[in-house]
Amino acid sequence: MSRITLKSLKKMKSTGEKFACLTAYDASFAHVLEQAGVEVLLVGDSLGMVIQGHDSTLPVSMEDMIYHSIQVHRGTQRSMLMVDMPFMSYATPETALMNAARLMREGHGQIVKLEGGSWLVNTVKLLTERGIPVCAHLGLMPQSVNQYGGYVVQGRNEAEADIIYQDAVALQNAGASVLLLECVPVNLAERITQALHIPVIGIGAGNVTDGQMLVSYDMLGISVGRRPSFSKDFLQEAGNVSAAVQNYVRSVKDKSFPTEAHTFK
Ligand code: KIV
Repeated sequence: MSRITLKSLKKMKSTGEKFACLTAYDASFAHVLEQAGVEVLLVGDSLGMVIQGHDSTLPVSMEDMIYHSIQVHRGTQRSMLMVDMPFMSYATPETALMNAARLMREGHGQIVKLEGGSWLVNTVKLLTERGIPVCAHLGLMPQSVNQYGGYVVQGRNEAEADIIYQDAVALQNAGASVLLLECVPVNLAERITQALHIPVIGIGAGNVTDGQMLVSYDMLGISVGRRPSFSKDFLQEAGNVSAAVQNYVRSVKDKSFPTEAHTFK
């Protein structure tokens, strides 16, 4: 069975078929998510919070990312494997190149994700020129939590929204293959999704993006503390994990998730 590729995601964008993404951290879970039809599995550095119990993603190391990425790869055959570059692993273009290569070679990632705006243009160019596809992550960037002073919605005023829009265009032009938008108002997500030719994945960005992402633990109601308002506990209605994930995939595809209640204005 061949894996979903960037080409598959681009085709889905062009035909208007929405794709479903979830985080995965181990082989068994990844297998269940894949069987339910999830197209993209993100080995997210959210593992620092949901697996390791930290209060941010900052303590996560390259070794952690590689370890979990190997497990997810081993449990799957079809889903696309996206891997997060952890905090400070892409502080300079050269560091990014070495670390991204490890995530691909040792972790079996198909694409790496990094958080940041126009300061990453040279890094994205370097990686993509060397054959490493990049997903750029804009909006709320959890690795910058200490700069924000909390996990807050981004792009709510015109000036902030314009910066995110310009960054999205600059990163696409630098070679990014996918964009992920986290916690931004739906009108900004729509403007960016329509302007870019690369697939745009949203988490807390309304039902207007090409793909939807959630942290798998949140969508199964096992968040530590409060579940994010843009997420939904699919397990409560479904009764078992496989059915919950199938319902999530179906709801993404028919655009019934996220609803207005999960969307920022
Ligand atoms: O690490 C992660 O799970 C993420 C998602 C929140 C998009 O980056």
